[in-house]
Order: sequence, then C-alpha cells, then structure tokens
Amino acid sequence: MTAKDHWHPVLDSQQLKDKPVGVKVWDSEIVLFRTANGTLSALEDRCPHRAMRLSKGWVENDKLVCPYHLWRYDSEGKGTSPCNPGMKPRVQRYDVAERYGAVWVKPVESNAQLPEFEVDGYHSVGLDTGIMYAPFELVVDNFIEIEHSPTNHGVFAFDAQAITQVVPKVETLGESIHVTYEGTQRHIPWWSPTQFFMPPKTRLVIDFMAHFRPVHFIYNMMWHDPKTNEQKPHKIREFAFLTPATAEETHIFLFFFSTVGIFSPKGLAPLRQIASKRFLKMAHHEFNLDKNIVEEVARTDKRTDLKGLQLGKFDRVLRETRRLIDSAYHQGPEQQVPAPVPLKATGTSGAVE
Ligand code: FES
Ligand SMILES: [Fe+2]
Repeated sequence: MTAKDHWHPVLDSQQLKDKPVGVKVWDSEIVLFRTANGTLSALEDRCPHRAMRLSKGWVENDKLVCPYHLWRYDSEGKGTSPCNPGMKPRVQRYDVAERYGAVWVKPVESNAQLPEFEVDGYHSVGLDTGIMYAPFELVVDNFIEIEHSPTNHGVFAFDAQAITQVVPKVETLGESIHVTYEGTQRHIPWWSPTQFFMPPKTRLVIDFMAHFRPVHFIYNMMWHDPKTNEQKPHKIREFAFLTPATAEETHIFLFFFSTVGIFSPKGLAPLRQIASKRFLKMAHHEFNLDKNIVEEVARTDKRTDLKGLQLGKFDRVLRETRRLIDSAYHQGPEQQVPAPVPLKATGTSGAVE
C-alpha cells in the first residue's frame, strides 16, 4: 500500500442524484454516478476516446454516456462505441462506498478498510462540507491549534482573556498526535441556542487525535462546571477529514455527533431536523471563518515548510504534524507504510467516555 491509498470522502451523498458528478482526490479526477437501479459507481473522469470529461455526460440505464461521441461505460469501466462495434474501450474504475452521509472512494488496488466511527452513546447530527483553496498542510495547521479561536470563532472557542492560561498538552502516539486544550469557554450571546449548553464561564475541553493516513482529526468537545469540575452531559464528537484534491485545494468533510437528546432518532423527527439544520448552519459559519483566514495565508505564502516562522507555544505541535505528514506523503509514492491507525477515539482523556 502506498501512502495515498486510503478511503477518502469526496462528496456529500445528497449531491449525487441522477446526474454524474466530478470530484478530485490527490490530482486524480473521478466521476461518480448512480445507475438506474441505484448502483453507485466511480470511474476516471476522462473518456479514453478523445479525453472528454465523462462528468459532463449523463446516465442511461446502467451506463454512463460520454457526451462527445456517445461511447458508453458500465460500472466496471467497460465501454462500447456505437460506430466501432468491435472496440472495447476501458476506463479505470475506483472502489466506491457510501457511509455517514458521504461518498468515499479508494484505488481498487488498496486494501484499506472503510472507516468505522466509534460513536456509541452519540447521535448523528449531520455532515458539513467545504473547500479551502490552500495546501492541506496549511489547513492542518488551522485545525490543530486553538490560539486563533477567541478572535476567529464564535462558538467552539476559548475566552480571549483566559487563553493565555491554556496549556496545550501534546503527545505523539506512533503516527498520530493526541492534543488536549482546556480553558474558559468564550462568552456566547444570550440569544444563541448554544448558550443552553455552553453557559458563560464554563470550562471547555477540546481533546483530539490527529491521524495522517489519511489526514483526519477526531475531536471531543466537552464542558465542565468551573466550580465542581463536573462534566456536563452534553458532548460533541467531530470527525474531520481533509481530502487533498490538488496541491492547492483541500476538501473538508466534518461529520458531527452529539449526546444531546434532541438529535436522538427516537425523538421527534421535525425537532431533530430543525436542530440539525441549525447546528450545521452554525458549524458552516465557523468553517467559513477559518476558510477566510487559511486562504488569506495561502495567498500570502503557499510554502508549507515552517522555515522562518516565529512559532509560539500553541505552534509546537505544528513541527510534529510536519514530521508525520512528510513521512506519510513526501517520501516517494513507492514508500511502503504500516497499516492505518483505527478510526476511533482512542487515546482521549478518561473524561470522554
Ligand atoms: S471523447 Fe468520449 S466518446 Fe469521444
Ligand atoms: Fe478554527
């Protein structure tokens, strides 16, 4: 297995209806489509005849039709040509699956396992997706430090006065990094629904694992009573996957889970839908705040090494991420790598479970 041979989320399932959709992973362009009987398929997004983009075509029964000369391809990538009945054109296919509301792909030769999230006791809130036009290393930097949270975030953020007291705890566990931040929650306006479980002065604990094969973070967000240190029952677990599309474009998939009862499938569906919609709108707003910052940094300086930067205490973890990213992605495609780290929230503090 090479370093890039993993399952990557590439599209929100809801965006794949009856028309083919083109996606990108590590500079590979892939067309996703559903056949008339619902079979999900992924092929190279390039017709082998004259290089037309197959995602500009359409689906007819169980075939994807190229719009240029109407050659057509099945889910396996086997093609036919109306004017050349003897020809057997072929398109490369990818393994494809749907899970947690996203479409995932991997190269056929890879034997990676489809991710399975450890979410016992949590309810699914939903999936938020977005693009940052920046190298994935710069996106990782943003996802792994919280010094920017008081100024750049409204909800999942530390208080600006108190952040100087936050001591980041960082430990490397094999090819992953375990990080814990604990401090006073940023004040939430009284009219915000999130005020309900993030009252002023509550202590916010963000405890997460960063994995790099593929690049993803598993966050646990918890709130503690400032006096008794008792943990509040509401918790959020977020699985953030960073899919590198090209050297300068990173696609982000944020899978949210919560212990809050309103998200339970046993509850009232209309209430759950309203709560999920509101939560995802808030999460996307927070995502956009980061997007603006990261893209500004990328416009200023696209270099991904840390040379010449004057790093503070919250940035120490960046050196470790660079080391693990270099080991996973910048040492040649022929590099053999060990089995991927299981996708579960191991290594988190005892308070999580
Ligand atoms: S380019 Fe696709 S059929 Fe000709
Ligand atoms: Fe952020």
